[in-house]
Amino acid sequence: MSATDNSRFVIRDRNWHPKAFTPDYKTSIARSPRQALVSVPQSISESTGPDFSHLRFGEHDNDLLLNFNNGGLPVGERILVTGRVFDQYGKPIANTLVEMWQANAGGRYRHKNDRYLAPLDPNFGGVGRALTDSEGRYSFRTIKPGPYPWRNGPNDWRPAHIHFSISGPSIATRLITQLYFEGDPLIPLCPIVKSIANPAAVDLLIARLDMSNANPMDCLAYRFDIVLRGQRATHFENR
Ligand SMILES: [Fe+2]
Repeated sequence: MSATDNSRFVIRDRNWHPKAFTPDYKTSIARSPRQALVSVPQSISESTGPDFSHLRFGEHDNDLLLNFNNGGLPVGERILVTGRVFDQYGKPIANTLVEMWQANAGGRYRHKNDRYLAPLDPNFGGVGRALTDSEGRYSFRTIKPGPYPWRNGPNDWRPAHIHFSISGPSIATRLITQLYFEGDPLIPLCPIVKSIANPAAVDLLIARLDMSNANPMDCLAYRFDIVLRGQRATHFENR
């Protein structure tokens, strides 16, 4: 465990993150609390977290083109997804675990509960993990996931997206979020996206096409930076 001072992480801004109760996103009805939230002071349990710097990674953990290889490459648009993890004051987060999972090019997850009629891809598992470097950088190589329909409204489709979990320096900073792709017309129609009130917050979830990082004749690239909660000390010291 890496120790930090108690009670230093800034409270999540509930006007920026989606509200818990957003009935157009049906499952939020059953999942959201019915009573006022109780504020619990941060203790060492929340302001510390695992030290990932000694985690042993497999050779292809961040390469979804190769990490489920069954004798071929997955079908789909080959892409690099790169970015940096920062705290809300712009400080890069080094040595933190970035995990991601996604559907294949047809919009199908390799998960026992996914019954969508698009077929599984024998060469695509759909999960990856990476550790940020000393400047907070991570990268994944994968295929662009397909959109898929879901049982919500009569005709709701998820935009193409990649799920992300970022641990950050403590339990209090862990963020689970989704990456969307620039230019996808399904983004503004999605009830999950619409649960986010502030368009500027939605904008931060959209990865940008990054031609400067694309490999000619190989793969396109998208850029997705991630912002976690910051520590109060950073703010007041004005570093
Ligand atoms: Fe999904």
